[in-house]
Amino acid sequence: MEKKYFIVTYGCQMNVHESEKLAGILQKRGYVEAANEDEADIIVFNTCCIRENAENHAYGNIGALKKRKKMRPDLLIAVGGCMTQQDGAAERLRKKLPFVDIVFGTHNLKDFGALLDRKAAQKKPLVSVQASEERLEEEDSAYRTSFPNAWVNIMYGCNNFCTYCIVPYVRGRERSREPDAVVREVEGLLEKGYKEITLLGQNVNSYGTDRDVGMTFPQLLRRIAAIGGKFRLRFMTSNPKDFGEELVQAIADCPQVCNLVHLPAQSGSDRILRLMNRKYTAAEYLRKVEMLRGAVPDCALTSDLMVGFPTETEEDFRRTLELVRAAGFSTAFTFVYSRRSGTKAAEMEGQVPEEVCKERIMRLVEAVNAQTRGLSAGYEGKTIEILCEDYDPKRGAWLGRDEYGRMGYFADERNRVGEFVKIRVKDTSGISLFGERV
Ligand code: SAH
Ligand code: SF4
Ligand code: F3S
Repeated sequence: MEKKYFIVTYGCQMNVHESEKLAGILQKRGYVEAANEDEADIIVFNTCCIRENAENHAYGNIGALKKRKKMRPDLLIAVGGCMTQQDGAAERLRKKLPFVDIVFGTHNLKDFGALLDRKAAQKKPLVSVQASEERLEEEDSAYRTSFPNAWVNIMYGCNNFCTYCIVPYVRGRERSREPDAVVREVEGLLEKGYKEITLLGQNVNSYGTDRDVGMTFPQLLRRIAAIGGKFRLRFMTSNPKDFGEELVQAIADCPQVCNLVHLPAQSGSDRILRLMNRKYTAAEYLRKVEMLRGAVPDCALTSDLMVGFPTETEEDFRRTLELVRAAGFSTAFTFVYSRRSGTKAAEMEGQVPEEVCKERIMRLVEAVNAQTRGLSAGYEGKTIEILCEDYDPKRGAWLGRDEYGRMGYFADERNRVGEFVKIRVKDTSGISLFGERV
């Protein structure tokens, strides 16, 4: 009988795409996708450690398998991703969850197939988290599940060392992929009918600065857009410190590049931004937003914001609220600062009490939501074009996003996934728009 795999993914798009690559590797070895954990012969956890709750979540879910593993010793359990790559994490994991068969890091994803073979030949658990920083010029063997969108890595790692962030420690230094390899991958995806390409990197603006690939990020965008035809090109994430005119011009010039920029601000307080090592002030951030809006007037802007960074005062926090308004974010991801051992901020004095964080995050979420609702209301009666991506059985409607990231819903007898559909908006709720096909 065919062996079946089940992959559980935590964390960012980077991880979502890496799970697609793991699925590709498993399928090459003859595994097929299981409908659920219960029927799987191998369960892979692709973990995240950006905040403590992401880790707790993974520990809880892996721990819940203890009984099943006892009853079915041939069930393979593999744990990979960012969590395993932290200092001492592999040993901690082995101690707390001794029944895990394979622990693999973020750097040796490509070797996952070989690890499976090695595990088959030995009984004892296998741990492989050494940080080799080789460039991954893999062929596109990912088993993609996000049609009509496809994720494409343009670089790996991060050099920025924002003081709160664990990513540079678990993902290593920046490594840019060859532009030709990226372009070939995108061409292949467009040929297969994908309609939206999202380029991935922790700071896409520093593409090609780790070595000479002969191209800047905006040039790469132009080159991909020049493939031509109707498709959407998105990217994440852009660090405000490196966000500049050349990129803004590429967004303005290329119809394929969506008029939506995700530009994580983190805070509106200059003092906090300095402590975070973000290398820009609130005023500089707003000047960049102004430049963007000057060249691309309809451009939507989203952000990541954090409350409770060490020593954050009410006054600092108010500046973040002020930035939400001044920058006109259409929406933002909001986070409570989480202390990550090994980072600089973890050693800082003045960790903010939990109750204070709770109160601030509530106010921040309310401010962001109010702004989102206000912008949504302006959509009523307008016609938008969405790229249909799924069906929501609860709502009995097809759904997809417009260029600016708004979710639109509409009813239709026919499956429209992968099609651009125009709808007239009749009703709105939060970031969601409800309409009729026109
Ligand atoms: N490379 C991206 C961010 C990746 S992490 C960038 O620099 O924009 C995604 C978001 O998680 C960050 O923007 C930040 O808001 C949040 N984050 C990172 N570390 C965190 C921590 N220790 N606690 C809370 N939120 C954190
Ligand atoms: Fe983390 Fe900063 Fe790198 Fe983003 S740029 S991944 S927040 S260190
Ligand atoms: Fe992503 Fe989490 Fe790793 S946000 S890069 S999966 S720590």
